[in-house]
Amino acid sequence: MKEEIYKKPKQKNDFPPNLENYEEAADTFTWKDARPYVDWVDGGLNAAYNAVDRHVQTWRKNKVALFWEDEAGVEKKYTFEDISLLSNKVGNILKDFGVERGDRVFLFLPRVPELYFSFLGILKIGAVAGTLFSAFQEQALADRLENSGAKVLFTTSELKPRVDKIRKKLPALEHIIVIDDPSFIKSVERASDELHIAKTDPDDYAFMLYTSGTTGKPKGVVHSHRAVIQEHLTARWVLDLRDEDTYWCTADPGWVTGIAYEILGSWSNGVAALVYAGRFDPDRWYKLLDKYNISVWYTAPTAIRMLMAAGMDVVKKHNLTHLRHLCSVGEPLNPEAIRWGLKVFGLPFHDTWWQTETGAICIANYPAMDIKIGSMGKPVPGLTAAIVDDKGHEVAINTEGNIAIKPKWPSMMHTIWKRPHKYKSYFTNGWYISGDRGLKDKDGYFWFIGRADDVIKTSGERVGPFEVESALVAHPAVVEAGVIGKPDMMRGEIIKAFVVLEKATLEKTKTKPQEEALKEELSVYVKKHLAGHAYPREIEFMDKLPKTRSGKIMRRILKAKELGLPIGDTSTLEDY
Ligand code: PRX
Repeated sequence: MKEEIYKKPKQKNDFPPNLENYEEAADTFTWKDARPYVDWVDGGLNAAYNAVDRHVQTWRKNKVALFWEDEAGVEKKYTFEDISLLSNKVGNILKDFGVERGDRVFLFLPRVPELYFSFLGILKIGAVAGTLFSAFQEQALADRLENSGAKVLFTTSELKPRVDKIRKKLPALEHIIVIDDPSFIKSVERASDELHIAKTDPDDYAFMLYTSGTTGKPKGVVHSHRAVIQEHLTARWVLDLRDEDTYWCTADPGWVTGIAYEILGSWSNGVAALVYAGRFDPDRWYKLLDKYNISVWYTAPTAIRMLMAAGMDVVKKHNLTHLRHLCSVGEPLNPEAIRWGLKVFGLPFHDTWWQTETGAICIANYPAMDIKIGSMGKPVPGLTAAIVDDKGHEVAINTEGNIAIKPKWPSMMHTIWKRPHKYKSYFTNGWYISGDRGLKDKDGYFWFIGRADDVIKTSGERVGPFEVESALVAHPAVVEAGVIGKPDMMRGEIIKAFVVLEKATLEKTKTKPQEEALKEELSVYVKKHLAGHAYPREIEFMDKLPKTRSGKIMRRILKAKELGLPIGDTSTLEDY
């Protein structure tokens, strides 16, 4: 392996990183030492209290916590006190609706300020918050709301019709709160801003997110209040957040990154954060970095690649000199992206690795540590990571295996909602097996190789092939579908579907334009029924799909064919 190393410049003594010596912390730090970093109230631990309310007792009370801007340029600003009081009001409104501890309250919202203080209000009364991307359509919504048994749902008048379509399938859903409806606006005005924050146990459930595996419906990954400990510490050590920073995490809270590092871990460090509720656009992004004097920026490789593709002219128009620390998550960070960061901002992107299930950053590059370009870095102090074989035994240095973590770490998921067996299946021989393949080098740096399963990562979003296949076969023209991730320069992977058509359609689809029109129709169909981001960008019609003798579609073979790779072991393959 040819190594390219970015050596960290010597820090000026008056501005050392929060974690000055990674190796020392990695050798000595244990999770017990984390206790003083969060506030325990009467022996209880509440993540929302730690994110916001504890600052209201200090000079940060009037500090801006949230700078908010939308695509149209509307700007809003909230102090820590504002967010504390608004989340108290939401807590009281929910209590009036009869929401009790442990009840699930879901947020189907774009990145509006209400999303942030409602999330916190839910946690403050001991209920469990669930987030849903606003790109979700009825199938994705039905799966998640049905399985979670959500009692209350926050949404907007624009998104509500999608919920109305599936309302019959959701007997547990008692209330839909439409945040732009005058009745809600009035009830916020009227509600008391005093709230007794629930004395939650660190192991009480706080939030849940649905995420995809290879098979079956999305699973509800449940996190407890304890997660805030690791989210706080990693925001401090990896993102290096400080009081004087203005920080921008570009993630949506429908994704775990938006919860851990846009709400809980970042605010618990008292940092002022920007939320931009708009679509990606290079010029706008640079404008935001400039306008808000962003100093710490946490984003994702697809966005970085898109900025790279937009070229240098657009960067040069903006003053980006206040940037001091850049981080990335969600997919492999290409070495070229790091080199580009160095050229354009004079700073490297620091790769961080983690998952919905791990709840917080687990492996990372730190401000004080040299970067081996292309590596994900080293385990967070307090956490043991390793490369293990399928039986859970550590493999030798530089050998490919499963990226694994030793339970328990504070932000480890607590369960998979209503699927205890699924939860158990993550663990082998005392290790949590991540589903990612990688290796560890002689210096302890971890390198990502790929997924061990068929999970697709497109523009950083995790998509289960089964969900897309199910959406496709719901279309009357489709008999069968097999879905894979196809490597893509910009998006990491795109979704590609192999589709077997129903006979009558096949006969009507003889010409190229007819074929193209049908492909377009199928893509739009998935976009409309499942989710705006989880649709196949490429479709290929097939006579039949490769299957095992028991009838399971072999995506591995579809992928090998697509990539022109050897097909491998076909002994379990049906006659193909
Ligand atoms: O495959 C890994 C990839 O994203 C997966 C987790 O996705 P999700 O649960 O949506 O959470 C992402 C945000 C925390 C992982 O199993 N992944 C995440 N970070 C990296 C990565 N792949 C390569 N390099 C990374 N730094």
